Amino acid sequence: MERLQKIIANSGYTSRRKAEELILKGKVTVNGQVVKELGTKVKSNDWIEIDGYKISQEQKVYYLLNKPRGIITSTNDEKGRKTVVDLIQTDKRIYPVGRLDYDTTGALILTNDGDLANLLMHPKNKIDKVYIAKVKGLIGKKEILALQKGVYIDGIKTSNAKARIKKYDKKTDTSIVELIIHEGKNHQVKKMFEAINYEVLKLKREQIDFLNLDHLKSGEYRIINPKEVKKLYNDAINQ
Ligand code: URA
Repeated sequence: MERLQKIIANSGYTSRRKAEELILKGKVTVNGQVVKELGTKVKSNDWIEIDGYKISQEQKVYYLLNKPRGIITSTNDEKGRKTVVDLIQTDKRIYPVGRLDYDTTGALILTNDGDLANLLMHPKNKIDKVYIAKVKGLIGKKEILALQKGVYIDGIKTSNAKARIKKYDKKTDTSIVELIIHEGKNHQVKKMFEAINYEVLKLKREQIDFLNLDHLKSGEYRIINPKEVKKLYNDAINQ
């Protein structure tokens, strides 16, 4: 059972506030009866109409994709390029939770559940995202400490992060760094390295909360099962 205004908002018909206005104005019917009370609970098979327009209570779906390089994170592209949504076979209107750059690979959640998407993206909910960055040069302890304590990007300090050097390759003069953050500003990881004067050559998101890329090759995806969805909700709410 869900609140009527929430179901209307989730359907994409209008915002929750507008849905409340429509309910109060007597424009909404449930199984043919006008419902004017805000917060009325409705079932998934109840027939909801607004001014004669049927609202669909779409089933929620959740996917974890291992995003390949060279694909844009968007629902559609004006230049007609392939998007992450095109990689997933579904008849539902799904969208990506957050954004990975065109050249970034790795874990990306796609869903039609706006509530979960918002919870996972809000930095106050502190959902960890684990990134592996290949950067040019030798990273020192001082730089790692700076990443951990926060650096300034676009005039704003990033919050506490976890960072560690995984490897340094002398031949190519590159370092592999694991960076765990819970914010999701545009190009955040690249900008954090830029702030300490390092260039990111390759970037992969290895994990979102407890969801890793086990058994998923580049371009492959899997359904996030109901138990995992529940855990994502719990983790976002209880951080
Ligand atoms: N940070 C970046 O710079 N790029 C991404 O794709 C994700 C995080």
